[in-house]
Amino acid sequence: MNQIDNNNNIPTQEPQRQLYFIEKAGELVRQMEGQKGRRLTACIQTFGCQMNARDSEKLLGILEQVGFVESEREDADLVLYNTCTVRDNANQKVYGRLGYLNNLKKKNPDMLVALCGCMMQEPEVVAKIKKSYPFVDLIFGTHNIFKLAELLYERLQRKKMVIDIWDAAETIVEELPVERKYPFKSGVNIMFGCNNFCSYCIVPYVRGRERSRRPEDILAEIRRLAADGVVEIMLLGQNVNSYGKNLEQPMTFAQLLRQVGEIEEIKRIRFMTSHPKDLSEELIQAMKETPKVCRHLHLPLQSGSTRILQEMNRRYTKEQYLALVDRIRQAIPEISLTTDIIVGFPGETEEDFAETMDVVRQVRYDSAFTFIYSKRTGTPAAAMEHQVLQSAVKDRFARLLREVQTISAEVCGRDAGTVQKVLAESVDDHQEGFLTGRLDNNLIVHFPGTVDLIGSIVEVNLAESKGFYYMGSMIRS
Ligand code: 5AD
Ligand code: SF4
Repeated sequence: MNQIDNNNNIPTQEPQRQLYFIEKAGELVRQMEGQKGRRLTACIQTFGCQMNARDSEKLLGILEQVGFVESEREDADLVLYNTCTVRDNANQKVYGRLGYLNNLKKKNPDMLVALCGCMMQEPEVVAKIKKSYPFVDLIFGTHNIFKLAELLYERLQRKKMVIDIWDAAETIVEELPVERKYPFKSGVNIMFGCNNFCSYCIVPYVRGRERSRRPEDILAEIRRLAADGVVEIMLLGQNVNSYGKNLEQPMTFAQLLRQVGEIEEIKRIRFMTSHPKDLSEELIQAMKETPKVCRHLHLPLQSGSTRILQEMNRRYTKEQYLALVDRIRQAIPEISLTTDIIVGFPGETEEDFAETMDVVRQVRYDSAFTFIYSKRTGTPAAAMEHQVLQSAVKDRFARLLREVQTISAEVCGRDAGTVQKVLAESVDDHQEGFLTGRLDNNLIVHFPGTVDLIGSIVEVNLAESKGFYYMGSMIRS
């Protein structure tokens, strides 16, 4: 029965090869279903960023085609962790959870445990898992998630740990199944990888060099999504502002944004993430002139000290960042700005930190993600001297957080009393009969409404600001 297939029958081209393995793995899953007398379940846990969230939708799409039923529970027949490694605590979390999975697997030896994502691109991690967590069934990385069906088939045939990590992506595989988390909104990858090598950051090492998808593939995917009921898309890339540079026919992100804006059924366009050094005048104009582009920009600062920015290899100064914010606000006064900030980068002094606080006070962000610097093996910053004392870092972090939150509470209420367009996203967990929706500028509003409105854009009077969110009432759908 389970003979290794005659190689000649296996397609060599993608996506045909994976569609073939979806069939083959599906046959094995159906056999197991027959033995167990029930459907098999799969649980995907996603750590980290929007890129991983989108990858998980692709992974779930493949698993569902193979025949698994999605489950939220970690005692499923297949558990897949899509990991992050941007800070060390992300790694520690995964090791902790693996201990728990080991116990579950002792109770159900047929259970499959699979790991993928950024953390798996680190050779020390894979070595540690092989040594200390031998019950793991399948390990793959960031460049070959499209191969899940093939790897799963191999694991089911071989009955021992399968490891497949690629150093770089060979191609971008298009048109495999995807299972979206929300019917009405979706992420769309426009590029993969990063060439910036900020000195603290592990992403370029685990996600590889920058590769842009072809605009015709991106637009075709968005048209397909629109036809399937999607009204909001988020264009995803580590640094969307350098989109298109390595295409056969180079184009800019601003040009892409305008083309996406022409797709009738798409009502809202978001994007993540913009590197300040590459944010062009052309993009500011494209945002201004394309009303569907949401009035929200995530513009990572990282540090307000020009000296530290240089050490971080960010390639802008404090003054250039502030001037950029001015230009954006002049063009689009209603824009809401959010950011990422790292505290405790090697060599950061109290004076450097004061520069960061100064930028925070000048820009007045809607919200800021604040991180304690985490040393990542292999990055230039890991070898830098003068790592900052933990006590000083903790103190600065607490002061920054307080400042960010105070400002945020002040600025987030600025639209109170106005009527705004809101995408109704879900039922409100806290109040019967209420929905939770999102404003163009990414803030949340709760308002009375019925389930049938989910996925549509409605007009809501933002009656009351609660600091980080609003309570409102719908005026017309
Ligand atoms: N330590 C702390 N924060 C980091 N980030 C990236 N690398 C590190 C690190 N080594 C933060 C940056 C980035 C966000 C996604 O994570 O602020 O913008
Ligand atoms: Fe990391 Fe910098 Fe690339 Fe962002 S731009 S992914 S922080 S290297």
